[in-house]
Amino acid sequence: MIMIRALAGFAFAVVAVSPALAKEEPVSFAEDVFPILQTRCQACHVPGAEGTAKSGLDLTGYDGLMKGTKHGAMVVAGDPLTSNLMVLIDGRADKSLQMPHGRKKLSQCDRDLIRKWIKQGAKNN
Ligand code: HEC
Repeated sequence: MIMIRALAGFAFAVVAVSPALAKEEPVSFAEDVFPILQTRCQACHVPGAEGTAKSGLDLTGYDGLMKGTKHGAMVVAGDPLTSNLMVLIDGRADKSLQMPHGRKKLSQCDRDLIRKWIKQGAKNN
């Protein structure tokens, strides 16, 4: 009987603690994601630049990112795994299409931040 009580107490403690563990920091588009696009992508992805001319992807702001390329969306809100944006910046596609094009890969930290932002719904926050 004492044993069962102890177990019940333990289960209660786990349930009480888990919401705190599950709650992760929200990633902000304006403060976290956009600065990466500005410094690492905008050299080629604004109107008139090579990347935008070739792909149609305009990274001037949130709307352009969500609109995607002339072939369609690059971000699937909630699903980083199938978002082409992640495929390209992680280097999972052909090397010639890794982004930033012909330049240093984004750090693991930057890529994980974008991944988390997509997972949290790719909001304009
Ligand atoms: C040095 C220039 C350059 C930089 C910097 C750059 N890109 Fe690109 N990007 C290109 C070019 C050029 C293409 C067109 C490639 C092609 O179609 O051959 C392109 C195409 C793309 C595409 C479309 C690929 C497709 O399948 O059609 C995406 C998405 C993209 N870039 C995202 C990014 C992101 C995100 C960044 C920043 C992390 C970035 N690019 C940085 C030059 C660049």
